Amino acid sequence: MKRIGVLTGGGDCPGLNAVLRAIVKTAHDSGLEVIGFKDGFRGVVMNEYIPLTPKEVVGILVKGGTILGSSNRDNPYHFCLEQKGETIYADLSDQAVANMERLGLDCLIVIGGDGTLACAYDFMKKGVKIIGVPKTIDNDLNGTDLTFGFMTAIDTATDALEKLHTTAESHHRVMVLEVMGRNAGWIALQAGIAGGADVVLIPEIPFTLERVAKKIFERKKRGRNFSIIIAAEGAKPEGGQQVVKRIVEGSPEPIRLGGIGEKIAQGLEENTGFESRVIVLGHLQRGGKPSAFDRILASRYGVAAVRMASQGLFGMMASLQGTEITTVPIEVAIKELKTVPPDGEMVQTAHSIGISFGAEHRS
Ligand code: F6P
Repeated sequence: MKRIGVLTGGGDCPGLNAVLRAIVKTAHDSGLEVIGFKDGFRGVVMNEYIPLTPKEVVGILVKGGTILGSSNRDNPYHFCLEQKGETIYADLSDQAVANMERLGLDCLIVIGGDGTLACAYDFMKKGVKIIGVPKTIDNDLNGTDLTFGFMTAIDTATDALEKLHTTAESHHRVMVLEVMGRNAGWIALQAGIAGGADVVLIPEIPFTLERVAKKIFERKKRGRNFSIIIAAEGAKPEGGQQVVKRIVEGSPEPIRLGGIGEKIAQGLEENTGFESRVIVLGHLQRGGKPSAFDRILASRYGVAAVRMASQGLFGMMASLQGTEITTVPIEVAIKELKTVPPDGEMVQTAHSIGISFGAEHRS
């Protein structure tokens, strides 16, 4: 083992730089060279990379984003090219493999969520030795208790909820905070608990506006003239659909959700007469410096990834199980999404402390 490649793929999140720093420091100590590909798999296809030495990672532990750049739309198997003013899509995966071979890489560490790791898995089938590191604010990756970036996103959403409480109370309003998470409600659920939300709406538990309104009226009867709702972008009404904001052609996961918050706020204003406002937290959840928790988790994952490479544990992903860092096959991580169990302990806890999910038995 002499030279390893690394890339950060998919939507960025706080802690990517902390992982890179840990990888480079650990590799350097073991006499390994590190090559960092730019902008996720795009850099592998285009052969764009930078050598990463301890000098490149000085001072990046606390920085958000990724010094390598990332992309959640460049799929080597369906790569977007401009030719003679026309957009075409081509399978450039063999070109990517050839680039890695030319660089003499012994393995590639892929820091990504389910889309990026699914792509990495396809490269495994072409003989590339892959090590996975679980990343995403959504925390929807199977095979690990936590992805890094998630806890920082929770802190950001919780802070937003706290701020919305004071203005909601002053104006006797309903505030709807729309958060990210794709098809999983982890951010909405956990920030909802931490930030004292009255209603949590998640994709795993379809809601009705009537039940949400019921909760708002119950609060009013108790003299609480305002309510705070946190809605996952993937939340949907019973018998209804998720709200799609846009389709990103060529992306491994082309659907971008968004807009449910506005629909909920409008519907509630009509149903309850309460003045309502919507706040879409958006990419604020992905920006900024990682929390102390995420710096630690990201560093542990980075060190583990290099150790896994040295031990020849290819095709595996570093994973947090309980309090221990261990490994799981990448195949397991991408097999299915890790969504919120609707009858799980976390939902029951939220319900027991008075949170409504806008659904029967949980309103
Ligand atoms: O997967 C991370 C994530 O932030 C999702 O929560 C969100 O749906 C999506 O990425 C947004 O993607 P984009 O940055 O392309 O708008």
